[in-house]
Amino acid sequence: MNAVLSISSLCKSFGTVKVADAISFDVPMGQSLGIIGPNGAGKTSLFNLITGTLRADSGSIKYQGIDVSTNNSATRCRAGIARSFQIPQPFTAMSVFENVLVGATQGAGLTQREAETVCLEILTQTGLVSRANDLAGALTLLERKRLELARALAANPKLLLLDEIAGGLTENECQSLVATINDIKSSGITIIWIEHIVHALLAVVDRLIVIDFGQMIADGKPKPIMNSRQVREIYMGLDADA
Ligand SMILES: Nc1ncnc2c1ncn2[C@@H]1O[C@H](COP(=O)(O)OP(=O)(O)O)[C@@H](O)[C@H]1O
Ligand SMILES: [Mg+2]
Repeated sequence: MNAVLSISSLCKSFGTVKVADAISFDVPMGQSLGIIGPNGAGKTSLFNLITGTLRADSGSIKYQGIDVSTNNSATRCRAGIARSFQIPQPFTAMSVFENVLVGATQGAGLTQREAETVCLEILTQTGLVSRANDLAGALTLLERKRLELARALAANPKLLLLDEIAGGLTENECQSLVATINDIKSSGITIIWIEHIVHALLAVVDRLIVIDFGQMIADGKPKPIMNSRQVREIYMGLDADA
């Protein structure tokens, strides 16, 4: 299998709290993988481990066949792993364009001139072009989420990690963001998306993983997983077809 990401027996604890308890899975190139699980399950910690802002206690993370477990986050970003943050983290005193420029120059290593062309394309793709010259601090929540996406895309990722990017949006905003993410998916970028808004996730992902107390408790086709007794017990009242 042509795996972009290969995680093996990954373990991480904070004191007595196990946020990753022997997690293993592979993500083939071009796949869109959803991750769900209750608050505190360890989902964001998994992204922190994959991107290198957290070091695992044991286990390995291979990216394109190479063990990156000991690489710092800047090296992993340059190699093509980019993320959005659950709570948007724009440089509020910089313009939208400058925020994306940071991704292209620091994340992808482009020159200023190369980066400017790329940024314009990404701002168009993410629906932010009309806001390019506005301060990032003046953006609405949806626009901040789009900026998270734009900045991550500017790093020219092969693997894009989205952390609850639809959280807090209205239904219409959510649908418009899903369309943008599906557009990114069709460009061939491998996506891992942590999300509580299940219908948004199911409109994009090919596969679903469920994490609870740091353990992977399900992995497979999204609809059967959402309909499984175990997942229904965790997400009482959730309907995969709703
Ligand atoms: N840097 C940290 N130090 C100590 N505890 C942490 C740290 N990061 C996360 N945790 C704890 O680890 C658990 C999992 O957190 P997190 O990965 O953010 O969960 P999720 O994203 O699934 O809601 C939570 O109990 C959280 O409080
Ligand atoms: Mg989280």
